Amino acid sequence: MLPVVLVLLAATSALAAPGAYLNIISIDEAIPPKDSGRAVSAFRIDQATEIANQGEASAYLLTFEQIIKDLGNDSNKVSQALAAAQAIGYLGAVSSGVPGDSCAAADLINAVVAASRSGNNQAVRSATAKFVSYLSSLIDNIVELSVNSESMRFAVGPRGNCPAGGRNYQFEAAWDSILASAPASSVHLVNEQYCAAKRLYKGFSVVSNNAGAILTAVSLPSVNLAFQNVLPQAANFLAALPSGNAGSAASALKQALYNSV
Ligand SMILES: *[C@@H]1O[C@H](CO)[C@@H](O)[C@H](O)[C@H]1NC(C)=O
Repeated sequence: MLPVVLVLLAATSALAAPGAYLNIISIDEAIPPKDSGRAVSAFRIDQATEIANQGEASAYLLTFEQIIKDLGNDSNKVSQALAAAQAIGYLGAVSSGVPGDSCAAADLINAVVAASRSGNNQAVRSATAKFVSYLSSLIDNIVELSVNSESMRFAVGPRGNCPAGGRNYQFEAAWDSILASAPASSVHLVNEQYCAAKRLYKGFSVVSNNAGAILTAVSLPSVNLAFQNVLPQAANFLAALPSGNAGSAASALKQALYNSV
């Protein structure tokens, strides 16, 4: 039996924290999502995330990933952009990284929260542009992972060059703004993601912390807007990953992201 892990979510109400049940079942019994034909969908995200070894992902990281697929099934443009950006953030977080280095993500989150209080939109734009160059390096890591899943390892080494490796940032204020701009059709899903992200943020492992910071940063309204503009390129990139031939789709996405901020 080739086992896969199924995450089942049970939420008693729209605002309840989801409980995660992890079931180890035979791969024959795991029914993958059907292809809805849409460019970003649960099917596409499921296929794309297959390139990563998810064996070490924590329960709440798997929970978050499951909700990305649900978001992918929602046709609203904000939901589609959230799903695409989060799928890329998720793969970036599990592909490799510097332990405890969430500096770029934490910087963006803090800059956006500060600017939303002061009304300084220029600061939001410049922090978003900086984050996009970090996303570019994650996209390169993901391409490498798709070519050779053995090539990437979570690096050992010194933590990033910022206070606490970016472990502390304005988590609650960031999710307030993410939830405030979530569409009615998916706000319940985004709220479940907030609950899962909070566990990642507060988790002990650096993989959880990095993932929590990246997933929070890619969900911010300013990054969501950028992803709405590059949705075709992001969808092409995710679709190309399972083939191991995503280099040109990656270049097109990076270029489009630079142009959109
Ligand atoms: C998304 O839609 C597809 C196709 O209709 C379906 O198979 C799948 O169960 C849906 N949801 C998720 C989370 O996969």
